[in-house]
This record gives sequence, structure tokens and C-alpha cells, in this order.
Amino acid sequence: MLESNMTVSEIALKAKKELASNFGVESTLVAVAPGRVNLIGEHIDYCDGFVLPLAIERYVGIAACPNDSKTARIISTGKAAIELDLSKEQQIADPKWSNYLRGVIREFQDLKYHLPGFDAAIVSSIPIGAGLSSSAALECAFATLLEGLVDTVLPTAEKALLAQKAEHDFAGVPCGIMDQFASTFGMEDQLILIDCRTSEPEMVPFSDPTLSIIVANTNVSHDLSDGGYSARRKDTEDALTLIGKSSWRDVTMNDVYVRQADMEDRIFRRSRHVVTEIARTIEAAIAFKSDDFSNIGSLMSGSHRSLRDDFEVSCDELDLMVALAQEIGFEGGVLGARMTGGGFGGSIVTLCHSINAKVIARQMNDRYLAQTGIEPLLFVTRPAAGAHLA
Ligand code: GLA
Repeated sequence: MLESNMTVSEIALKAKKELASNFGVESTLVAVAPGRVNLIGEHIDYCDGFVLPLAIERYVGIAACPNDSKTARIISTGKAAIELDLSKEQQIADPKWSNYLRGVIREFQDLKYHLPGFDAAIVSSIPIGAGLSSSAALECAFATLLEGLVDTVLPTAEKALLAQKAEHDFAGVPCGIMDQFASTFGMEDQLILIDCRTSEPEMVPFSDPTLSIIVANTNVSHDLSDGGYSARRKDTEDALTLIGKSSWRDVTMNDVYVRQADMEDRIFRRSRHVVTEIARTIEAAIAFKSDDFSNIGSLMSGSHRSLRDDFEVSCDELDLMVALAQEIGFEGGVLGARMTGGGFGGSIVTLCHSINAKVIARQMNDRYLAQTGIEPLLFVTRPAAGAHLA
């Protein structure tokens, strides 16, 4: 299915209506935060690598109003309302989705902010389980809402790290910094090159209107807390120890070959992915900075192959969707395609000429549906603004 994106004002309006119809109050605050798609640099944010994501035109929106109590009453589309006692230190509890919020509240509590009671309604246009960081967007939108409620503005990196910590401690996913950085630092017409060794983002212009990004969700769902993600992360840590360096940024392929005989084949392949993906991302960033896209297709294909064969986080549906984009090829307006995000299902990202975007998306949609019987979800996006009060 091809879908158009809701604007920030439409999302904000939807959240306000939900708040009014569920709690009978008008909102005094609305926070929004986008999901993200990563162009290149996958599974290396936790390896001191570089990543190149953008915030997408898909958002979590939260409308809220103080309620003169010590309780947060929160409703999220399709779920039963939850009540959180703000006078108590937040702990992990049911339902599962509430932990993203509990984790962020706990961070504010640890920073000694006094949170007033409030009613809130959460809406989202980010598909869940699609590898588009719906959970990071929820954390970042909620952190932005809490900033508004306590009348403060945290430094952006601090807010992103706080949201990441909530994900680690309350959702149990040992994620890197990419998703929360993209959701908070996102800017219209800009990609975000993140140096994950220094945690410094650098904006890379994506202002050429003739280029667009298609996100294609295979609708095969993954769950990052199911162990695959942490297993990959552990492999990279074990590999680095074996190689004997303190950071992947100081590792060359030669260093890996020197220790290859002492490594299990799996660990060797994980290492090869990390070293080559860091190099591909640096090259891709140079390509975007110099508007030279001649090599971008092979960098993206190389990244996909490496994730499929060496890092083993792809799946048949992702491989098929990438193959469909590649089949349309340069003649049809496709510059490059690869799986994106944590993997084990989820989405692929395709860089293409804007003029062809709709036709490309339609073809990918129809061919994927015909071959798998699964209805995918595709949309075209440009880089969007990061978390803010709307
Ligand atoms: C998930 C994590 C990110 C990153 C990607 C893979 O989205 O949350 O930190 O590791 O997977 O690149």
C-alpha cells in the first residue's frame, strides 16, 4: 500500500482531539518527534562507527494538559489508559509499552525535576516493528513533553542520551545512539552524520529536490528485545577484545586478518562487516557532501550484502524488496537500496529521483505483494525536523 504522510499539524490536531475525547480537556502542550530511516552505517553506532540517518515525515504526537494531581493518565491509540503515580520512583511494570514512558519519567526524576500530574493522549504515524524507530520517537516526544511540563529545555544531546538510557534500562534493548539522535537532531533538508565515537552530529545537506527517499516496510515484524540484537552487539564486543584494540575506529581489515585464525568464522564475518561498513559510510558521507552519487548504489548494495551475509540480520522479505528496487535500477530512477534499521524484518530504504518516486514505489509494492502475498507499506519522505513542541 502506498501512503502519503500526515503533516506535523495534522498529527498534533489528532492528538489534541484524542485528549479532548478521552479526558474532556483542552491540551496546553503538544510534543512531536519523528521516526528515522538510516541511509547507511548499520549496526555500527555501538561500534564507535559513523551512521547517516535522517528524521522522516512520520511522527509520534502527544497532547497533554496538567490535571492538578500527582498522577499521569495516559492514553495511546488502541490501548487501555494507564495511570502512573508520579510521587513514586518509576519502575519497570506492565503493560510493556508503558516502560518507554516510565523510563523517561525516571530519568527526569533522577535529574530531580518535580513533575506535575497530567493527562496525555499519544498518536503515531510511524508503523510499529518496521525498523523506523517508533520507540525512540515515543521516548523523544515524551521527553520533549516533560521538558514543556517542567518548563525547561535540555541540551539536545542530553535529551537524546536520556531517551537512550530509558530504552536500555526500561525496555531492555542495548541500542546505540542513532535512533534517539536522529529523532532529536533531525532537520528539514538535512541528513545527520553521527560520529558515534564522539557522539557528535554533523548536518549534511540533502536539499536537492530532485532526490527522494522511499521507505518500504516489508510488514514482516521484528522485535529487537528478542535477543538477536544483543547477540550481534556481544559478537562485536568479543571480536574487538580478540583483536586487542579499544575502539573499532582503530581497526583495519589487516588487523582482522592477523587474528582470523583465532576467530570463529562468525566472529570474523561480524568484524568484516563493522570495518567495511565504517569505510562505506565515510565514503557515502563524502558523496552526499559533494553531490556525487555515482558510487552511492554500490555502497548501498555493499552494505546490504554485508548485513545479509556477514552480520546476518536480513531476511528473505528484505532481500526481495531490495532486489525489486535494484531491478528497477538506474534507468528507472533508483540510485541505491538496502535494508535499514535493526533488521530481522522491517524496512528497506531506496534513494531515487523524485520524478520517478511514485512509479518506483508502486512497482515495488505490486511486485512484492504478488511474490509474497504480504501487503507492504511504502511512503516517500524527505528529511524532517526533530522533536519539538508543536
Ligand atoms: C536499532 C538500534 C540502533 C542501531 C540500529 C542498527 O535501530 O536502536 O541503535 O544499532 O538498530 O543500525
